[in-house]
Amino acid sequence: MKITVVGAGAVGATCADNIARKELATELVLLDIKEGFAEGKAQDMMQTATLLGFDTRISGSTNDYSKTANSDVVVITSGLPRKPGMTREELIGTNAGIVKGVCENILKHSPNAIIIVISNPMDTMTYLALQSTGLPKNRIIGMGGTLDSARFKYQLSTTLNCSPSDLNAIVVGGHGDTTMIPLIKHATWNSIPVTQFLDEAQQQAIINDTMVGGATLTKLLGTSAWYAPGAAGAALVESIVRDEKKLFTCCVSLDGEYGQSDICLGVPVVIGKNGWEKIVAMDLSADEQAAFNKSADAVRNMNDVLKTL
Ligand code: LAC
Repeated sequence: MKITVVGAGAVGATCADNIARKELATELVLLDIKEGFAEGKAQDMMQTATLLGFDTRISGSTNDYSKTANSDVVVITSGLPRKPGMTREELIGTNAGIVKGVCENILKHSPNAIIIVISNPMDTMTYLALQSTGLPKNRIIGMGGTLDSARFKYQLSTTLNCSPSDLNAIVVGGHGDTTMIPLIKHATWNSIPVTQFLDEAQQQAIINDTMVGGATLTKLLGTSAWYAPGAAGAALVESIVRDEKKLFTCCVSLDGEYGQSDICLGVPVVIGKNGWEKIVAMDLSADEQAAFNKSADAVRNMNDVLKTL
């Protein structure tokens, strides 16, 4: 199994580190445009191999995509991260050009790869990856909902004072501060609805804290977060390479599902060796469906910006 992570910044390096520790690949390539940067990170990580006990060969490359040839999975993290006060959407002008170029190079050297998109604005970058590569839709996966669902479970666990691993909860819709939809009425604590333990004010606070989860960290860190985004990317890689068929919320191309078409948006999907293998239908209330449609409108407006670039 060969895996490439494009972008050796904090998210890309963390994702690669997780992939190596889990031994998901025999060969792992880290690529960056900054001279020597990916090589440096790869060497540093390789020097943890005997300490952590993994047997993945990690190498770095300065923008030489021939080194990534025949990758089975490619994770795209390239582009500028958010600065405090910035929305993910403000990154579109710069990141669209970067992601488009990356996609062309991936396609040239790894035509059979499954592509995971992390770059922001993630919903639009996923749509762009699908359009610019023309690959089958099942092979383009946006990571956002996986991260947002993990953050939702974290927020629930701190209020409920329980283990986050005992929680089942998902965030659907877009990966934006105002477009994501934490589905609290569907969330359970080992199958018991969490709403039994939370009053309306607590539920609203958890939803709000989840929605601004990334922005809160950007304010604290001065740049956008990396541990959870990197781990979320690696979790998707794991479900693909081990064909686990786990259910994640991912940004995928909708063709009438959840009432939307010609858009990539976060919905529950099964992730396995073929990429996203199935969109799972879930009964949304009228309010939840309305929020989903509103989220789709916002993402569609952002996708329209691509035409002007
Ligand atoms: C975040 C970025 C990765 O939410 O979108 O932290």
